[in-house]
Amino acid sequence: MKGVILAGGMGTRLFPITKVTNKHLMPVHDQPMVYYPLATLIRAGIKDIFLVTGPEGAGDFMKLLGSGKEFGVKITYRIQDEAGGIAQALSMAESFADKGKIVVVLGDNIFQDDIKEYVDEFEKVFEGARIFLKEVPDPERFGVPELDGDRVLKIDEKPDKPKSKYAVTGLYLYDGKVFDVIRTLKPSGRGELEITDVNNAYIEKGQMKSYKFKGFWSDAGTFPSLARATEMICKAEKEGTYETLVKRLNNNGQKKT
Ligand code: G1P
Repeated sequence: MKGVILAGGMGTRLFPITKVTNKHLMPVHDQPMVYYPLATLIRAGIKDIFLVTGPEGAGDFMKLLGSGKEFGVKITYRIQDEAGGIAQALSMAESFADKGKIVVVLGDNIFQDDIKEYVDEFEKVFEGARIFLKEVPDPERFGVPELDGDRVLKIDEKPDKPKSKYAVTGLYLYDGKVFDVIRTLKPSGRGELEITDVNNAYIEKGQMKSYKFKGFWSDAGTFPSLARATEMICKAEKEGTYETLVKRLNNNGQKKT
C-alpha cells in the first residue's frame, strides 16, 4: 500500500515561528516533527510515500528528506498552492494512488502505536475506510465521533458540545474511491474541504470501521500540544516503549550520527 503525508497549511496556531518555518519542521523532542508520521508509515512497511506541502516550505522538506533513500523509502513531493483543507490536499494524490488503497497521515500527528496490523487487515478488504480514535481531555479541538458502542454514527468537526470524549486522530485508511468522495464535497464554514466530511461519507455508506489506539497520540500543531508531544516521546523513549526514526536508523546501521 502507498502512503500520503499531508504537511501543508499555514501553521497559524504556531505563529510567529511559522512565519519563517513550516510547522512540520519544528522540533519534537530531538527530531523534526515530520519524522514521526514518516516513522509511522515506515514501521507499517509503506515504501512509496507522497508528501504534500505548501510552496514556502517545499525546498526545506526536500533538503531534509531528499529522495527518501536514507530512510529506505521513495518520496514524491507535491505543492499545494493555497491552503484549501486536508481533503483538498489529499485530492492531489489521486494519480499517485492510481486507484489503489492508501494510508494517509497528517504531518503533525504523533502516534506510539504500530499501525501495521491495521494496514495488513485493510489490504485484504474489498473497499471502505478506517479511522483511529483516542480518548482526549479536550475533544472540542478535533473531529469527534458520536458512538453507539464501537460503532461510529457520525463525526462532528470541532464541536462546541462534543458527543464523546474521543478525538478522530490524523490517520486514515482509504480505498481508491476516496477521490470520488472528495469531488462531491463543498467547502465548510472555514472555507476548506474537510477530511471529516470524507469520513462521514464513508460512515453513511456503511463502509467505515474504527479502532481505538492504545498508546499515546498527540497532534503538535499548537504550543501546548507541541510541548506535550515532546514530553511523551521523551518519556516513552526512556522507557523503551517508542523507537524514534533516528534511533531506528542507527540501530539498523544505516546511518551514523
Ligand atoms: C484535523 C482534522 C480533525 C482531526 C485532527 C487530528 O484538524 O480536521 O478532524 O481530529 O486534524 O489532528 P486540524 O488540527 O488540522 O484543525
